[in-house]
Amino acid sequence: MKFNQQLKKIAVYTSGGDAPGMNAAIRAVTRIGINSGLEVVGVLGGYSGMLESQFQTLQLRTMANIIQRGGTILKTGRCPEFQKPEVRAQAARNLQAAGIDAAVCIGGDGSYTGAHALWTEHQIPVIGVPGTIDNDIYGTDETIGFDTAVNTALEAIDKIRDTADSHDRLFIVEVMGRDSGFIAAAVGLAGGAEEIFAPDFPVPLEKVIEKIKAGQAKGKRSSILITAEGQKPGRAYDLAEQLRKRSGLDAKVCILGHQQRGGAPTANDRILASRLGAGAVQLLLRGECDLAVGVQGGKVVAIPLEEAFTKEKHTPQDILQLAGSLAT
Ligand code: ADP
Ligand code: F6P
Repeated sequence: MKFNQQLKKIAVYTSGGDAPGMNAAIRAVTRIGINSGLEVVGVLGGYSGMLESQFQTLQLRTMANIIQRGGTILKTGRCPEFQKPEVRAQAARNLQAAGIDAAVCIGGDGSYTGAHALWTEHQIPVIGVPGTIDNDIYGTDETIGFDTAVNTALEAIDKIRDTADSHDRLFIVEVMGRDSGFIAAAVGLAGGAEEIFAPDFPVPLEKVIEKIKAGQAKGKRSSILITAEGQKPGRAYDLAEQLRKRSGLDAKVCILGHQQRGGAPTANDRILASRLGAGAVQLLLRGECDLAVGVQGGKVVAIPLEEAFTKEKHTPQDILQLAGSLAT
């Protein structure tokens, strides 16, 4: 969409779960914004901060020494009441009262939904930047934080493999991903997992048992299964229990948890975040909004924001299949 208002002051905020690389994106938005003659304001704590007018002017030097830091200097959070139109109206009034002409939202699909509403209901031009470790945002090949989370999980899995091998054990490792299996698929392939349980591609347990037993018959002594947490963190314990009941197989469980959300971003995430943060401001400077930036085939692109949070991006089935056929 095109907007007409003159751009003098823009806001940037992070929302939803934190993701390594969010700081690099904030830095890019701020520095491109200021170097293009704009004033840049950080909203502290996502939509909750917007409701409390928690606005802080950002300077070029505020951005020093953050590109390598995980988390988000602007803080983030969840603000369920933002789903109510009257609450969003208050947030819009606060932005307007602070002289903020447009905003860059760094977050996942929930954050994008709120951002789209700020434009459609209150004509506040917004651009979305995909910041989530889950990589489940349509319209971009990768989201900021995904690569770091995969590498963090992989490092842990390599260590677990040492113990699995030394003790001839079966392990079930649980990675993050409530609705998405991207992390599970990537670490499963890169970590040589026997089987990957993704929320959108369920695997019959009988098939897994058959595979493990066939491997054992061929002399395989240890295996690693990867599961995404799905709707209930701790799913790996349920799987282990079912395996034991149905087959007598004894699996150890390791839940990697929130460590996947933290830590220094990889080079890949810093580069992605810098390109997408800069791309977001460039779109606003051209008078374009209600878009989500992303990378496709190595190029920075933009798609309608609504498309980014309504269309589904599924776990790559080819990766799941390849991991399965390599673990024989
Ligand atoms: P993510 O952005 O990573 O998907 P959430 O789903 O937790 O994370 O969403 C982050 C925030 O975005 C929510 O706490 C809420 O403030 C806002 N949000 C989520 N869904 C909606 C919605 N349907 N309408 C308006 N705002 C929403
Ligand atoms: O950031 C995405 C994510 O890590 C999901 O994979 C997970 O289900 C969720 O966040 C958990 O976040 P929190 O503990 O902050 O609710």
